[in-house]
Amino acid sequence: MTVGIFDSGLGGLTVLEAARQRLPEVDFLYLGDSANAPYGVRDADDVFELTQKAVKRLWDSGCDLVILACNTASAAALRRMQEGGLPEGKRVLGVFVPLIEALTERQWGDNSPPREVAVKHVALFATPATVASRAFQRELAFRAIGVDVEAQACGGVVDAIEDGDMILAEALVRSHVEALKRKMPNPQAAVLGCTHYPLMEKTFQDALGPDVQVFSQANLVAESLADYLARHSDMLGDGPAGYLTTGDPRRVSDRATQFLRRQITFEAA
Ligand code: DGL
Repeated sequence: MTVGIFDSGLGGLTVLEAARQRLPEVDFLYLGDSANAPYGVRDADDVFELTQKAVKRLWDSGCDLVILACNTASAAALRRMQEGGLPEGKRVLGVFVPLIEALTERQWGDNSPPREVAVKHVALFATPATVASRAFQRELAFRAIGVDVEAQACGGVVDAIEDGDMILAEALVRSHVEALKRKMPNPQAAVLGCTHYPLMEKTFQDALGPDVQVFSQANLVAESLADYLARHSDMLGDGPAGYLTTGDPRRVSDRATQFLRRQITFEAA
């Protein structure tokens, strides 16, 4: 009963942790492409190639379903992979849709025409590649009208987190929030559109102030995965569980252990 979870590095662990809590009976095989992180400064073709290779690695390990727990990969590769045709019995899902459904107060699979929603001014924090793709705005436009989105490309934050430099990550988050507020002084909601950012959620909330509702993906994606598996129990693969990295397993294990505050042991992918 193994589901694959993929991220460019450590950020997808935020989704994995929420999924483990929501679905304790399911095993997960995590793959972080730390050797090639960050993805957020790469062009779309590059992200597509790397993502496709990583997803294939998880499929080949027995995972029938792979979650792209990475917005940058979801933005650049998900649609292209799905449109290119997936191997028989294999699926790949991304992280945008659960988030946007929560923001627009929709149930899973509600494909009714776009309508007005309560939230009107949304701040989007994401990697430069995700912001450049405009994938968030495109998915939002399918579901809601009249929502003003101001996007802030948060350069450097993923690198700082991957390096374990949380002081730098915090300083960068605060400066990106300030930059956003110069463009949109009073956002009602803020979307953390990168799976690394929940590790900095307190800093985002603190810098944005208590009146801004912060949407973070981990729990939303976990809930949506539970819903999907309830309808597609045949998508539970039978490969081994564990943690794989294309980077240095010892270094990556140390960082992951620091973030999750329990021993996590990565192996070479
Ligand atoms: N966690 C990835 C995301 O959600 C980070 C991307 C990166 O490697 O820059 O976008």
